Amino acid sequence: MKLSHRLIVITSVLLSVFFIICVIENVLKNTDLTEGEDAVHGRQHFIFQRRFLNREETSKISAEASNNAMNVIPLPPKNTNKKNTTVKTTTVSTTKEPRDEFPDLFKYSTLSPNFRQYMEWPPYFRLPKYNPSLADVLKVKIRDNMTNWEKFHLQISKYYLYPEKSKVVEGLLHDLATKKIIGVEQLPGGTQIKLILTMEDGAKALFKPMRFPREVETLPNHFYFTDFERHVSEIASFHLDKLLGYRRTPPCVGRKVNISEEFYPLVEPDLHKTFFISPAGNVCFHGQCTYYCDTSHAICGDPHMLEGSLSIWLPPRNILERKPIRSPWRRSYNKRRKASWETDNYYCINQVKVNPPYDHGRRIYDLMDLVIFDYLTGNMDRHHYDEVFTFGNDSALIHLDHGRGFGRTNYDEDTIILPLLQCCVIRLSTFNRLYSFHIGPKRLSDLMRETMDNDPIKPVLIEPHLKALDRRVGKILGVIRLCLNANSPDLVFLDDM
Ligand SMILES: *[C@@H]1O[C@H](CO)[C@@H](O)[C@H](O)[C@H]1NC(C)=O
Ligand SMILES: *[C@@H]1O[C@H](CO)[C@@H](O)[C@H](O)[C@H]1NC(C)=O
Ligand SMILES: *[C@@H]1O[C@H](CO)[C@@H](O)[C@H](O)[C@H]1NC(C)=O
Ligand SMILES: *[C@@H]1O[C@H](CO)[C@@H](O)[C@H](O)[C@H]1NC(C)=O
Repeated sequence: MKLSHRLIVITSVLLSVFFIICVIENVLKNTDLTEGEDAVHGRQHFIFQRRFLNREETSKISAEASNNAMNVIPLPPKNTNKKNTTVKTTTVSTTKEPRDEFPDLFKYSTLSPNFRQYMEWPPYFRLPKYNPSLADVLKVKIRDNMTNWEKFHLQISKYYLYPEKSKVVEGLLHDLATKKIIGVEQLPGGTQIKLILTMEDGAKALFKPMRFPREVETLPNHFYFTDFERHVSEIASFHLDKLLGYRRTPPCVGRKVNISEEFYPLVEPDLHKTFFISPAGNVCFHGQCTYYCDTSHAICGDPHMLEGSLSIWLPPRNILERKPIRSPWRRSYNKRRKASWETDNYYCINQVKVNPPYDHGRRIYDLMDLVIFDYLTGNMDRHHYDEVFTFGNDSALIHLDHGRGFGRTNYDEDTIILPLLQCCVIRLSTFNRLYSFHIGPKRLSDLMRETMDNDPIKPVLIEPHLKALDRRVGKILGVIRLCLNANSPDLVFLDDM
């Protein structure tokens, strides 16, 4: 054989071997993918996870996070092996242990006639009584013949978005759930599809579609920033915010829409072309966005009907002036790095409380309220909160965007409550509500069940989520107890009653 012939033979043998190795590797890889694939979100999603997030890193971080939290917050015994009947019976007996009723905290609650003896007004904090509304600022009168959404916009005030037992909010929720839809647009930006709906009376609302059934929980390997949003979390968060007495979350209600009848004829061409009929014969669309807007993440009707949440759109930013403020307890949004507050227990004392705007006024208390709210819903995605400027200094904050709450029923993300433990300050009114949720007669789960019973897509939350709320209330009281063990009550409580 000539040298050139020999070379050709050797090269082709090498190439074939290389090809075979490639094929084998690919087969192995694919098996790996299928094994790890979860039934709900399919392969695409898994590839996304593999490509952007290192799985080993995930388990390490969550293990560290829970270890960290366990150092500070006593966790209930974990039922690790459900198949072992011996373990099961011991778990049953622990749940029958007498519940901690926090008798040591009673004296600080307004149920106790002497609670004031423990409180002191910090001299630097005094809210003016005057609570102007948007109508006052704009110098317009709220008329009877205005629509509910116009009345709602105009009655937004310095200290809350709506007063207690508001008839306007009641009417507004009814309008959002029933009025004819006359406009459908995609909200630009964001990783997941959201629609802005315009109603026949001119109200605008943010529509978040249902992506999966209520029983589906956040996948353990999902980061908070890759988790899918839940429409029921938006609705439940509005009700929880109301029950906590904050009233800083825009009213939100569930609605079932007929995609073919109520959306399809109204959409713009770019959204129009993403509509299709699935193999199961359901009407679907996926819209256009950064990550989850393709055929494999489509939103589908059954076959036409789609459930979603509708949150009222707030007045434009030039009327209700507001700005998103970066939270000091923002997470790193990086799969490898932790934020400094997660490892530094003196973060609040050394880096937050000493600097404006947290060193005076209501801001730090508002933030603690927000932390408690996020802990109850399990929302780790609070990177910003909204400050309002229209009413001058010391307005209440606004809480927006709650699609990432209520993802887990058997797990409490205890790092969310760390800021409360690091700062150890809380409004007396907030403590008082939590305490009354805990000792009853109506617990938070009962109140939530009751208030959400009027929603068109009830039951909004499945029972295990409601039970989780009661459990988390107990854990927050545990944190407050730790604070009171280390500080005098007048430093912990702000008497705002
Ligand atoms: C269940 O747990 C008990 C106590 O930890 C142990 O003795 C027993 O062997 C376990 N049974 C099984 C089936 O794993
Ligand atoms: C509402 O009532 C006011 C006076 O009471 C009237 O001027 C206005 O035109 C009415 N608006 C509508 C939309 O009916
Ligand atoms: C939804 O709209 C389609 C198309 O108009 C119609 O055929 C279907 O019956 C509607 N479904 C319901 C439940 O109203
Ligand atoms: C609002 O706060 C800023 C900064 O803290 C301060 O300079 C300003 O005087 C305050 N305005 C009023 C009306 O209190």
